[in-house]
Amino acid sequence: MKHDHSPVLPGQGATDYARYMRTDALLSLQRSADEVVHRDELLFQVVHQSTELWLKLATAELVEATAQVSADQLCVAEALLARATLALRLITDQLEMLRYLSPVDFQSMQPVLGNGSGAESPGWRDVQEASRQLGRAFDKQLAARGVPLSLCPPDPSDPLHRLAEAMVEWDERVSVWRVRHYQVALRTGGHPPAGSPGSHANMLAKLAGHRFFPELWQARLPPTTDE
Ligand code: HEM
Repeated sequence: MKHDHSPVLPGQGATDYARYMRTDALLSLQRSADEVVHRDELLFQVVHQSTELWLKLATAELVEATAQVSADQLCVAEALLARATLALRLITDQLEMLRYLSPVDFQSMQPVLGNGSGAESPGWRDVQEASRQLGRAFDKQLAARGVPLSLCPPDPSDPLHRLAEAMVEWDERVSVWRVRHYQVALRTGGHPPAGSPGSHANMLAKLAGHRFFPELWQARLPPTTDE
């Protein structure tokens, strides 16, 4: 039997797939072959643009997870956080594509990048704010319990413990992205390594050590015994 593929949805595009996914608009967001100064601009834009999309999803999951924490639905929050964490793993993996961008080719693209920097990424800005909000919602739940948190050992039957462990993993994945990004920046941007005065690498290396939830990392450690 032949399927009818004629479009029924409103919107632009020759098919319902194109209309729903808005592929006409999406695929026009990269500089065309006659606009580019280097053919690797496509590689560069695809990695950045798809990163922004995954970060948009990660932020939405974090925002909903935060609402669920406030509503004391900790298992739901944990499941949503796992989705955000997977989005981070995917954007870490796709940094691999930048290994095909050589420093000399990247340098030839510089004039069309203006003063742009990944540090201006709206996706990263939103993810960071959403992470801080999640931390605040968690702290309120913890305060309501009235006992200090010890994750040593973690109790998998306690939803608060499970959420705390998921938050530690989120923190770790952010850091893993930063470590990989730092290495990509070094190999592509030709920056002097961390330690050289005024190097951007100093800042990137320092950021790799940043934690949103340092107290949760602390709570996983065995208590120190004073002897
Ligand atoms: C050729 C690849 C890349 C190079 C050479 C590079 C280089 C750099 C450098 C030198 C910095 C330090 C700040 C500055 O100089 O403006 C930076 C920061 C940053 N870049 Fe990249 N980057 C690359 C790819 C990416 C990608 C794919 C993303 C994804 C959106 C990204 C996101 C960021 C973010 C969020 C920061 C702020 C630092 C942080 O929060 O860890 N960069 N990048």
